[in-house]
Amino acid sequence: MHNFESALARARDGEKIDRQDICALLAATPEESRELFSAADRSRREHVGDEVHLRAIIEFSNYCRKNCLYCGLRRDNSSIQRYRLSEQEILEAVKTAGELGFRTVVLQSGEDLFYDAKTIARLIEAIKKRHDLAVTLSLGERDRNEYKDWREAGADRYLLKQETANEHLFSTIKPDGSLQQRVQCLQWLKDLGYQTGSGNMVGLPGQTLTTLAADICLMRELDVEMAGIGPFLPHHATPLKDAAPGELSLTLKTLAVTRLCLPQAHLPSTTSLCTLAPDGRQLALKCGANVIMPNLTPSGVRDKYLIYPQKADIIEQPEAALNSIQALLNELARPLAQDHGHAKKYPEGDLTNGNQAGNHARRFYQ
Ligand code: 5AD
Ligand code: SF4
Repeated sequence: MHNFESALARARDGEKIDRQDICALLAATPEESRELFSAADRSRREHVGDEVHLRAIIEFSNYCRKNCLYCGLRRDNSSIQRYRLSEQEILEAVKTAGELGFRTVVLQSGEDLFYDAKTIARLIEAIKKRHDLAVTLSLGERDRNEYKDWREAGADRYLLKQETANEHLFSTIKPDGSLQQRVQCLQWLKDLGYQTGSGNMVGLPGQTLTTLAADICLMRELDVEMAGIGPFLPHHATPLKDAAPGELSLTLKTLAVTRLCLPQAHLPSTTSLCTLAPDGRQLALKCGANVIMPNLTPSGVRDKYLIYPQKADIIEQPEAALNSIQALLNELARPLAQDHGHAKKYPEGDLTNGNQAGNHARRFYQ
């Protein structure tokens, strides 16, 4: 039997539910969704606690060698102004993140080979030497050797969303690659000891509930430490400009089911969700999410990293963003995490290397 109630009962009991069960949960009516969300919220509290982890994202280059149909950074989009931050500028942004009290920086870019493996390794080493920060990379698909060098340089985590676990849909929306290669990269990252994050987009044209269930099953199979679930948002300068955006309710249901299937995972309240709905952030925090990723890209270039239109946090300065996050967390009675926010399998203090001095100002937490 795969109806909603029986699927939810088994998921609540910690059983490994199957694809049909997942579909039954994703098909929840608005009334059933309330039950689903409260089950996900309870699972989140039991397995990862009330704390919310902050990760500072630094988008250091919007050049990309790929041509994904949905993304504003695709190489054929000649209507955006491209930028690359220098190593110095990146380190400045990292310093700001450290001073504001962040414990993790996420270095993100389009797939830009201008930054070769050595440059990235040098950056990681410089960050680890100067700061008590966990380093997450989000640079797309690279060779195993490059991932290995960066891990050895001290990188802790890597984000590489699968985007969709349906092979055909993957090849359609990401014509430069294959799902098989993507999964290979994720496996390399796991083998190399990265805390690995994947994720998907909800509402891609041609996607069904079965596709979304496959997404969740793939993330469960890979045993990812993080999963970014966000709605697809059409960008005006891409081939998918006329497609409908993903729905808020289905995105929240996907997030909630992901929490039930991957109870230990870090699940961010994604920026795309906040862009889709003004109360998206708090809705996500109430149905499974436990991470927020504020944008620390220098203000001079921040509005150029336009993967989808009007990112909610573009106009905000980091201090203002942090203040509104703090106010929201107060309202929800959710404390800000003080530690690095490693996955439980990777205990605190077990950072692979790097300078642990960590006596920098944690202004934001004081
Ligand atoms: N809508 C929603 N998310 C998008 N991303 C890229 N383009 C879009 C879009 N149009 C997300 C992808 C990618 C990350 C950089 O941003 O999931 O992994
Ligand atoms: Fe490039 Fe990533 Fe955008 Fe694809 S989704 S075009 S790889 S930045």
